[in-house]
Amino acid sequence: MKSKVETTINEQIRREEFSSRLYLSMAIWCECNGFPGAAAFLYRQSDEERMHQLKLVHYLNDRGGKAVLMSLEQPEGSYTSLLDVFQKVMHHEEYITASINDLYGVTLDEKDYTTGNFLQWYITEQIEEESTMRTILDKIRLVGNDKAGMFHIDKELDAMTAAAAPIPAV
Ligand code: FEO
Repeated sequence: MKSKVETTINEQIRREEFSSRLYLSMAIWCECNGFPGAAAFLYRQSDEERMHQLKLVHYLNDRGGKAVLMSLEQPEGSYTSLLDVFQKVMHHEEYITASINDLYGVTLDEKDYTTGNFLQWYITEQIEEESTMRTILDKIRLVGNDKAGMFHIDKELDAMTAAAAPIPAV
């Protein structure tokens, strides 16, 4: 594997690992602030990000590279509202999408079409995640400060999480 591709995949491994920590931090805040459904949703999201990380780790090692873990910054631990949490989730997912697109660009520049093909899974995953987060964010915006509405959204997040497919082992 070309070293530029390997380095960029390792950077993506760091970003996926940070995503997992960030969502864990958000889940903790939700759990401690009366949003058990949002907490369940974000705990699961944290596990998903760990799976995204691990999939890259295995790919890199299987292709003759070596996954390297880097130090991570401390994720933000306090939020002003559920809206604040999901605005930040959305912002973070957009950042990850851009990062995957850049990584895909590197594989094209380096003519590593196998890795480019592997990354298609991430490209599709990002479309789905952005769409899910946008829908949740729209609902939170719609209820504004209405407590009953917020309670309902939290219940809905709980139901969504309970109905979600198990996270596949990689
Ligand atoms: Fe693995 Fe949601 O980015």
